[in-house]
Amino acid sequence: MQQGNTSARGRNVVVVGTQWGDEGKGKVVDWLTDHAQGVVRFQGGHNAGHTLVIKGVKTALQLIPSGIMREGVACYIGNGVVVDPTHLLSEIERLEKVGLEVRSRLYISESCPLILPFHVAVDKAREALRENSGAGKIGTTCKGIGPSYEDKVARRALRVQDLKHPERFAVKLRELLDMHNFMLQGYLKAEALEFQPIFDQAMAMGEQLRPMMADVGYALHKAHLAGQNLLFEGAQGTLLDIDHGTYPYVTSSNCVAGNAAAGSGLGPQMLQYILGITKAYTTRVGSGPFPTELDINAEGTVGHHLSTVGQERGTVTGRARRCGWLDAAALKRAIIINGISGLCITKLDVLDGLKEIQVCTGYRLHGQDVDILPLDADDIAACEPVYETFPGWEGSTFGLTRWDDLPVNARRYLERVQAFIGAPIDMVSTGPDRDHTILLRHPYQG
Ligand code: GDP
Ligand code: IMO
Ligand code: MG
Repeated sequence: MQQGNTSARGRNVVVVGTQWGDEGKGKVVDWLTDHAQGVVRFQGGHNAGHTLVIKGVKTALQLIPSGIMREGVACYIGNGVVVDPTHLLSEIERLEKVGLEVRSRLYISESCPLILPFHVAVDKAREALRENSGAGKIGTTCKGIGPSYEDKVARRALRVQDLKHPERFAVKLRELLDMHNFMLQGYLKAEALEFQPIFDQAMAMGEQLRPMMADVGYALHKAHLAGQNLLFEGAQGTLLDIDHGTYPYVTSSNCVAGNAAAGSGLGPQMLQYILGITKAYTTRVGSGPFPTELDINAEGTVGHHLSTVGQERGTVTGRARRCGWLDAAALKRAIIINGISGLCITKLDVLDGLKEIQVCTGYRLHGQDVDILPLDADDIAACEPVYETFPGWEGSTFGLTRWDDLPVNARRYLERVQAFIGAPIDMVSTGPDRDHTILLRHPYQG
């Protein structure tokens, strides 16, 4: 870890996914953390699965910021995150088992809404109902994310700070549980949950979490004034954003860069550089439209290649990820919404060995040419992608660390993507390991 900048205020970088998640955010956050003193999660919950590979050793993180893998780096869970205390404690214990010091440098915002067992029950029962009624599942991670955010915006959520006050907690829990049980039994035809086990477990976990509870917004402000660089770690991706994504096939939070401020309690003028993470192709887990999707099951096809060579299986649910070509017309929208400063293209190595590579540069929709991803999910589903075709390259890009060492066709492909989307490619990732990275312009060095 580099020391903070003590003579001036810190520089802050936001890392966001520009597709439907799983772009490789965790790997890039871990790589960038050698220039940061604090890493901040600002939305989502343990629906995220961020995989880091350090000297061949794999670690999967869900709720704890990826900065935890660097000694001495402070990790913050901001108010925009929904926290399942059972999961959080088990993730802390898992990291402690491999020798990491977690509790002394993890700060959890007292304003985070809690995910409690009835949120998980509602998430699961609602997915089952949607499937049976023919409405179609969203394909959620069934972690209770959506129901917890619903309670937050309805102003009835139990929050981390409530764990400190057993009496207050009990009153609110009784009311909230009554409402959810009414929904579970009456509408979702599922079983009701009992008050006492939920209360007892929450109180026991609250005791353990108490030393880590913090005023995260103020802590970040002080860190910033002290010259520390902060890294904001997005979860999910722009096309899963509750407002800007492929609604209703989205998650329940704002995943875009603008939420790094609201979801952490730091002002937006403090965010100096927005790094968009983009796979060299596209994947999606769960339901919803996906214009460039390919068949992943037929051996010998490109879809099968992307799925198997890219090892595209969900970290959290183990589901096979859907795969397809890079959608640069969707990326264009993500760049606008996030105000991207630069991109990191990941998993370039997965394209090694393909004879031809295609990139979607627009669509045909109801007989019209469209140059950017439409906003309506039904329109997106009706889009016929228009492709530009590139020759593939010979040889391996796996693990390369220098731009000049890339095959000429790989460089041409990246340069064309860059020109089309109008944002600079500042980094390229050529393998899962921390060191498999090509740097063109460092986000912390302007
Ligand atoms: P995240 O959710 O955005 O952090 O991404 P995930 O960790 O869910 O999925 C990305 C997967 O790709 C992980 O298994 C990473 O180890 C892996 N990965 C990241 N970058 C690269 C890369 O450049 N090449 C290859 N082959 N794998 C990568
Ligand atoms: P990371 O941070 C990929 C998807 C789910 C589902 C939709 C809603 O690893 O990129 P939810 O449980 O959030 O209500 O599910 O969002 N989803 C993700 N897909 N990567 C993720 O996180 C995701 N988190 C949620 O598959 O389609
Ligand atoms: Mg993931």
